[in-house]
Amino acid sequence: MSPSLTVPDNANSSISHHISRSQSRRKRIIVAMTGATGTILGIKLLIALRRLNVETHLVMSKWAEATLKYETDYHASNVRALADHTYNINDMAAPIASGSFRVDGMIVVPCSMKTLASISTGLCDDLISRAADVILKERRRLVLVARETPLSEIHLRNMLDVTRTGAIIFPPVPAYYIKPSSVEDLVDQSVGRMLDLFDLDTEDFERWNGWNKDKQ
Ligand SMILES: Cc1cc2nc3c(=O)[nH]c(=O)nc-3n(C[C@H](O)[C@H](O)[C@H](O)COP(=O)(O)O)c2cc1C
Repeated sequence: MSPSLTVPDNANSSISHHISRSQSRRKRIIVAMTGATGTILGIKLLIALRRLNVETHLVMSKWAEATLKYETDYHASNVRALADHTYNINDMAAPIASGSFRVDGMIVVPCSMKTLASISTGLCDDLISRAADVILKERRRLVLVARETPLSEIHLRNMLDVTRTGAIIFPPVPAYYIKPSSVEDLVDQSVGRMLDLFDLDTEDFERWNGWNKDKQ
């Protein structure tokens, strides 16, 4: 064996240390909140990810903060405190703006039609649309909790375009068969189904399990 091919004594342990370190990395998800109604969905999602020990990277748009203030008792700082890392929406130098930063996916919750349009056209004019663009080019999981009703042809076209590029459109549409007793039940079910898409189980909503004879 030539000297340059000699394997150092500690090589095996160093390789296995490296492998176990990359395998043991916490799951890492980017959460973006935009100015569509339903900020509670983003908040509950952050809480669920925290419980599931997932590392979260949060970006909020200016209009997400405005709707948050109007719709909930949370202050933006309370929401940021739920995430492991937070970024300013104009910070194009943030780690999540680069494909070399390892993440398992991104969820935009709620996703306005404006942000959907920016992602669909590849505009990258703020950190949310740039991070989503990176997720798509790196072929990672992108879920858009797109909220608007009714939907125009422009909205539908943008949804089709991003779906063809690999994103998943997840409108926060309630499942009435759970017979919710509160809005919270509906939110928990929606959040649980969103996280199913990342192979994460919140275990706090009722799954369809065939006809329940008692309820008929
Ligand atoms: C109270 C409130 C509710 C809104 N709800 C929606 C909505 O459900 N869907 C939507 O596309 N835009 C909605 N908008 C409009 C967006 O906030 C607006 O288009 C904004 O430019 C989105 O910017 P962003 O995507 O950067 O957050 C709402 C605005 C307000 C003030």
